[in-house]
Amino acid sequence: MEQGKSTNVVWHHATVTRERREAMNGHKSVILWFTGLSGSGKSTLAHAVEEQLHKHGCRTFVFDGDNVRHGLCADLGFSADDRVENIRRVGEMAKLFLEAGVMALTAFISPFRSDRARVRSLVPHGEFLEIYCRCSLEICELRDVKGLYKRARAGEIKDFTGISSPYEEPEKPELVVGTGTRPLEECVDQVIGLLQERGIIGAFPASDQWAHDNSTSR
Ligand code: ADX
Repeated sequence: MEQGKSTNVVWHHATVTRERREAMNGHKSVILWFTGLSGSGKSTLAHAVEEQLHKHGCRTFVFDGDNVRHGLCADLGFSADDRVENIRRVGEMAKLFLEAGVMALTAFISPFRSDRARVRSLVPHGEFLEIYCRCSLEICELRDVKGLYKRARAGEIKDFTGISSPYEEPEKPELVVGTGTRPLEECVDQVIGLLQERGIIGAFPASDQWAHDNSTSR
């Protein structure tokens, strides 16, 4: 870990601990780290998962690449160095949310393995769950929801992930979801299943499984 510039600072321990917060919430906190190409469906999936968790009384928050870059990371662009710093900040932020007892869902391309590994190393084993939103470049480009791929191909946007900047696929993610080809409901169920399997949340009542509604449609 790099030496920071803050010296002579002493950690202050909270009396309201993470464990007390989790006990009050009735679920554990966790970082759900969604990674994948732009347009792969990270944000859509993160928000749809959040919708289900929220309905079941879980405390959640979604950090979205495009949103965070309007504020906390507005000073950063898309060079390799800036992306490293973007993910470092988001990782530290997600860690704070973990301490706050909240389930932090992050939706960033986070193209570099080393950056994702660094965030993983910030928190205890099993509290960073990497979810690879697998969607081919062809499909992302066909969708081109924001029209950015077209502009990147035309050379109007440089360092564009998948076109002129690399995306390093996860080697051992906790979960791979086929956001390019599988229905959203199925991907949501996979993520909820992972959380239940890992004991982060309990089982949902049988009558209360996935109920499709318009708020989570693509
Ligand atoms: S990351 O690489 O640093 O993780 P982040 O997830 O924050 O990226 O932001 C990605 C979003 O920024 C994309 O979904 C897209 O809307 C927009 N964007 C603008 N320029 C680029 C670029 N050069 N490469 C990738 N995404 C870009």
